[in-house]
Amino acid sequence: MEFPFDINNIFPEKITILDQTLVSGDKSTGRPDLQSKMASVIDELGKASSKAQQLPAPITSACKLQSNRHYLYLIKDETSNGGHGAGVGFLKVGYKKLFLLDQRGAHIEAEPLCVLDFYITESLQRHGYGLELFDFMLQHKQVEPALMAYDRPSAKFLSFLAKHYCLTQSVPQVNNFVVYDGFFLNKSVGQ
Ligand code: ACO
Repeated sequence: MEFPFDINNIFPEKITILDQTLVSGDKSTGRPDLQSKMASVIDELGKASSKAQQLPAPITSACKLQSNRHYLYLIKDETSNGGHGAGVGFLKVGYKKLFLLDQRGAHIEAEPLCVLDFYITESLQRHGYGLELFDFMLQHKQVEPALMAYDRPSAKFLSFLAKHYCLTQSVPQVNNFVVYDGFFLNKSVGQ
């Protein structure tokens, strides 16, 4: 996704980690001009994600990021748009307190890291960007995919998890979250 400004100037790294502060490296601290451009990149990618998932409204925006304790990993392609770079997609995660059912149907209370939104622009899907972003997040958060929960995953995302992380055996829940077999290892009732 291209913008009428230099993406490489706003996001120096290939993958940028953003949180509530909406600061990308030292450069954007105290620079409202850079922060408003950063916000428009997040907003446009957030809109595209909601459209791709047929959601009634975006669940990712700069404003929402500023008011929640979420992490957003944004990936760019630095070479496109005549060297100005383009936004490729993002992955948003956050901790959530969940009431889950284990394989025997027993109630478990947990606060796992959850994937809340994940989007790669249409023309660049199936090029490995999603995997690069997801692996980066796993390293940064020091977590394994089986220990995470997934909020209403789409068919493409379920296929992605099966292909790259062999996550296929989900444990039925009564909420919108999907968790896999390995999630309940070493977890006891009420934990
Ligand atoms: N149809 C089916 N599976 C797909 C598709 C597709 N169009 N695109 C990606 N995948 C899955 C497949 O398993 C694919 O492997 P394959 O090509 O061998 O079948 C694998 O992902 C490819 O891996 P990457 O290239 O690393 O994935 P990609 O960069 O495409 O990112 C993502 C995956 C984020 C799911 C992307 O396809 C996307 O943005 N889809 C639209 C939005 C969406 O559904 N997001 C998830 C919402 S649910 C949530 O966020 C909790």
